[in-house]
Amino acid sequence: MPIASNGFIFSKRAPHYQPTFALHKRIALLAEEVGIDYLFWMGKWKGLGGPTHHWEQALEPLTLVSAIAACTHRVKLFATINPLLFHPTVAAKMVATIDDVSNGRFGINIVTGNSLDEYEQMGVLPEDYTNFRYEYAEEWTTAIKALWSQDKVTFKGRFFNLVDCVSAPKPRQKPYPMIVSAGGSDEGLHFGARHSDYAFIGLRASEIAKVRQFAAEEARSVKIVTNLFLLIRDTDAEAEAEFARLRDELDHEALNNLIVSLEGNMRGSRRADYLRAPTVIGFGSGFTVMGSPETIARKLTALIVETGVDALQFSFLDFVQDLAFFRRGVAPMLKDMLRHEGISINLGEERATAA
Ligand SMILES: Cc1cc2nc3c(=O)[nH]c(=O)nc-3n(C[C@H](O)[C@H](O)[C@H](O)COP(=O)(O)O)c2cc1C
Repeated sequence: MPIASNGFIFSKRAPHYQPTFALHKRIALLAEEVGIDYLFWMGKWKGLGGPTHHWEQALEPLTLVSAIAACTHRVKLFATINPLLFHPTVAAKMVATIDDVSNGRFGINIVTGNSLDEYEQMGVLPEDYTNFRYEYAEEWTTAIKALWSQDKVTFKGRFFNLVDCVSAPKPRQKPYPMIVSAGGSDEGLHFGARHSDYAFIGLRASEIAKVRQFAAEEARSVKIVTNLFLLIRDTDAEAEAEFARLRDELDHEALNNLIVSLEGNMRGSRRADYLRAPTVIGFGSGFTVMGSPETIARKLTALIVETGVDALQFSFLDFVQDLAFFRRGVAPMLKDMLRHEGISINLGEERATAA
């Protein structure tokens, strides 16, 4: 969901818009009609500048999702939360509150923060954080799970100290609300394997095998989800031409600022240089899948069948217009093609929408 201004594509040609409750409500209601299973909001605390002022306006995900929860009735909702910003006792209640508002449809994406300048500006970034960020998240997650499931919690860790601490009511979902994670490093993948129901990873077979292996070592299983940017036009040629125009008018300044801010958090030889590849036009948008509705349906079917991925997350240039196009053009064909592969999905079915 486009929680920060201009969505996920860094281009002067992309639509420029503000994230508002009205827009998010409209997309959420449409998503319920389309048959989308869940909606996902990242967290963003500092914009990237450039001529497009990318991400300079960003709403706060949990408060926004609480409102969306009240006006939807079926779609699951995930909001990103960074343990650095919310004490686990506060977060435990916030999540239980939204789980109540949504009638058990809420989940969190626990992140350690990919752009540390977001936290530096607030004065909340501990020294040497990069070297213990997943240890911090691990403790926070252990504490919040205890608060969600036990009457009284006594917990002494390196970062948190709870003494006979109570948190009630408990969330509606038992033992706790859904957790997703999106770490890419081995530490991040281990964290996801230990705690999450869904792990966001790329589509390389080796990565998928790795996270499944890490989860098996924890005697758990984790569903794999990947995000994709769908660029749907009437024909393949039109989609390719649109991609070329978006790329030609890339907001290089905003993208460079992103690269610098990501590298502040990377250890050793890891670099964010991959964002300079000619195939990149956004961030958080996922791998681009473009073409006519039929091409998109075919590519998605192949991807699902070949990788065995459990869920696909889509982003769009214009969420309202393109999601409607997806529903009209792609969903019926995708459903048919998957049926031929013995896979059944609910996409494309008419569903009642809450007022
Ligand atoms: C779909 C998706 C959404 C993400 N959302 C956020 C976010 O909202 N805030 C954030 O700081 N990082 C976010 N990340 C970054 C990851 O949490 C993670 O930090 C990044 O993939 C690097 O992995 P590492 O932390 O293991 O080094 C997201 C990643 C993905 C794939």
